[in-house]
Amino acid sequence: MEQKIGVVGGGLMGHGIAYLFAAAGHRVAIFEPAAEIRASLPQRLRAILDLLGDDAALLRRIEAYDTLAPAMERAAFVFEAAPEKLPLKQQIFAELEALVAPEAILASNSSAIPSTDIGRNLKYRERVVGTHFWNPPHLVPLVEVIQNDKTSAEVVRRTMELLRTAGKTPVHVRRDVPGFVGNRLQHAMKREAVALVASGVCDAETIDTVVKEGFGARTAVLGPMEQADLVGLDLGLNIAEVLYAHLDRTPGPHPFLREKVEAGKLGMKAGEGFRKWTPEAADAVRDRLSRFLAAQAKARKTAPKGGLT
Ligand SMILES: NC(=O)c1ccc[n+]([C@@H]2O[C@H](COP(=O)([O-])OP(=O)(O)OC[C@H]3O[C@@H](n4cnc5c(N)ncnc54)[C@H](O)[C@@H]3O)[C@@H](O)[C@H]2O)c1
Repeated sequence: MEQKIGVVGGGLMGHGIAYLFAAAGHRVAIFEPAAEIRASLPQRLRAILDLLGDDAALLRRIEAYDTLAPAMERAAFVFEAAPEKLPLKQQIFAELEALVAPEAILASNSSAIPSTDIGRNLKYRERVVGTHFWNPPHLVPLVEVIQNDKTSAEVVRRTMELLRTAGKTPVHVRRDVPGFVGNRLQHAMKREAVALVASGVCDAETIDTVVKEGFGARTAVLGPMEQADLVGLDLGLNIAEVLYAHLDRTPGPHPFLREKVEAGKLGMKAGEGFRKWTPEAADAVRDRLSRFLAAQAKARKTAPKGGLT
């Protein structure tokens, strides 16, 4: 069923979120206050269309607005993808509450700010939910749907249903914990990776090779719990007994990471991070990632349900 979807913020995440709902047959209105970002929306949406080879007619279902009220009029769902600042998000949600019907669902794409805090001063808190999309949101299937203390079960159900029918893979995160599930897992691994490089066990390039050519090669089709069950929990326990005492437990970010940041080694944008980057090498990585994710997204569209896993 076609619905009106409001998107707040037409930046990196907002335009991809808008695209995926338009591709699913919904009408989408984006509120983007910055004139130059608003002006670049058609070109950025077109780039996604070209990457995925979709029908250009879907772009006509997306409209961009320079004010919030007309964009959100009669929206059934609003996805907020504005900058990561709590007071700003609280203000946006307060405005949204006055603009949309009480049963409309208000979802925040925040990576780190609990939706509990974003919705704290609202009248109808049961319809505030976290929806953590992964970048790029039109290509990565997962969306974490985070239920906070006030979110109703019905709001979680309706949000998961909307995402599922838009071709995403929503998962229900039952508590509003920092990092939700995906980032906790990802950062647990990065913490160990930084410690291994810092202590000279291997270089940063080797870490990338070990992940991509090793367990990463099977991770898209075999999750860690499936893998644990596959090899047997008795073996898992034996490994844990030997290994866990040796894993990094530095409290807070590792000093090696802090030193890099203090030295201006911020990654590809600075020419050096954990590894050294020419602009061409950095572009090649972005291109490789985009083409890989697009090929997977296209395959998913044509595969029978569950066909890729
Ligand atoms: N970038 C990522 O990988 C990623 C992944 C998951 C979640 N997120 C989250 O998504 C949100 C948006 O991130 P992004 O990377 O798209 O940022 P972005 O800076 O690319 O986009 C934010 C947009 O919001 C606009 N904006 C500024 N003030 C606004 C206001 N008052 N109302 C509406 N829009 C306003 C900006 O002009 C900008 O276009 C953040 O909460 C971020 O934490 C980002």
